[in-house]
Amino acid sequence: MGEKTGQTYILDALKEVPKYIRWCTPSVLPNQKRITDVYSTDVSVSAHFFGSYVDNTGIFKKAHERAARVYGADKTLFTVNGTTGSNFIVMRMISLENDTPQILVTRNIHHSILHAAEWLGVRFRFIKCAYDPQFESLIPPKPDDVIDTLNNYPETNAIIISSPTYNGLVARIRDITRAVKNFDKEIKVIVDEAWGAHIHFSDSLPESAMDAGADIAVQSTHKEGGSLQQTGMIHWKEKYVDSDLMYAAFREYVTTSPSYHLLASLDAVCAYMERNGKKVVENMLKKAQYLKDLLGEKVIPPMKILDDSLELDLVMDYISGYDKAKTVIALTKFKETGFEVADILAKKYRIVVEKSGLNTLLLLTTFQIKDEDVEKTVDAILKIMRRLTKTNKKELIPNPFKHVENKPVIEPYVARRVAQTIGRKVPLRDAIGKIAAEHIEVYPPGIPVILEGFRITQDNVKYLLTVKEMGGHISARDPTLDTIYVL
Ligand SMILES: Cc1ncc(COP(=O)(O)O)c(C=O)c1O
Repeated sequence: MGEKTGQTYILDALKEVPKYIRWCTPSVLPNQKRITDVYSTDVSVSAHFFGSYVDNTGIFKKAHERAARVYGADKTLFTVNGTTGSNFIVMRMISLENDTPQILVTRNIHHSILHAAEWLGVRFRFIKCAYDPQFESLIPPKPDDVIDTLNNYPETNAIIISSPTYNGLVARIRDITRAVKNFDKEIKVIVDEAWGAHIHFSDSLPESAMDAGADIAVQSTHKEGGSLQQTGMIHWKEKYVDSDLMYAAFREYVTTSPSYHLLASLDAVCAYMERNGKKVVENMLKKAQYLKDLLGEKVIPPMKILDDSLELDLVMDYISGYDKAKTVIALTKFKETGFEVADILAKKYRIVVEKSGLNTLLLLTTFQIKDEDVEKTVDAILKIMRRLTKTNKKELIPNPFKHVENKPVIEPYVARRVAQTIGRKVPLRDAIGKIAAEHIEVYPPGIPVILEGFRITQDNVKYLLTVKEMGGHISARDPTLDTIYVL
């Protein structure tokens, strides 16, 4: 009803995009080489003389080799299903290498790693992470936390650390790698560096995972690295990684008809960053600093930002530094949530933030942000702030993951498999203490709160219900949270 024949929903919506100020991914380089006509240059593997992406030959091999050089790796592969796809490839490599594969993962891990592990029968155990409720921030583990967990699970094949975290905290990868290799040099250190494609190029940011000695790093180049949506890279060092197995896992997973445009955008980023990476990242960081300075001048206090030195001091033992492209604002002194403020910013001022939460807003400075965008945004935040309700007793939701055990009661793939037969649906409130047979998360950030096979805790439920009530996005079979499958 009321629809015109031939209407194009997605195409029409995209026309609106340039009208927004976007403090969110993708961070697109303004001056790299670009494809100008997408349709006339769309080509497939039938043009065999270009070589094959899947088999890493021809122009693709050359581009991969240059990428490895530019990002400080021994080997690199481009991926076109984001870090989600890269995580599946890396997990497949682990499963090809080990009879009874087992990994340790930090609690702030992205769902793609857990899903890949479940698909491939890789057992995972959690390394606990501290949590800061004011900034809704999971904090990376210290090297000792990793080793403590390894002592409980010495048969581990790899540890996977998420760093930088969504909020920009960079783990102590060098120290963690050293500690893990002292424990057992065959254990791989894998870094989900989805948020770190830019950090290798800057002297004022912490070391990238490759520079800090990790074995494997996966990056979403589209997030902060400059390429088109969907694109990412897998980097590795050959000392402890079997390249043949990585290529085998890649061949099994990747599409046989990749978009060469996506691959070309990665190639163009490498060419550009090789010559200009340092300059362009420093310029972007200047804009981020301008935002922090203006916020400091006009709106802080009563708002707070995470990379204020006083706030960062509290987590110094856990991190090697901070991704200054991120600006996380806490609204602790106001009754309103980050969801509400983000909504006003989008609807009234056409400003899109990367992420909002119960108490926070996350602004990601991208390569394309201009000084005037910074000024307009701070003015908008100031105007909104004047209408917010001050409070001294906002309830901050404590660590929703605190009581989740390191290991499941039933292996997740078993819990999922039997969910339809012996599982039953109950209201979420009645599920506390029961074993979950499905998965619920808040998106973003995409970190599972309830996981199949794990016992559901009161903290899990309280957090999910609060987020839902306050207008956050729940990703689940039943996003109303009326029901959940339990065993
Ligand atoms: C830590 C982490 N890993 C992986 C991903 C998935 O990345 P992509 O969207 O490139 O698939 C995300 C997405 O936000 C993430 O935050």
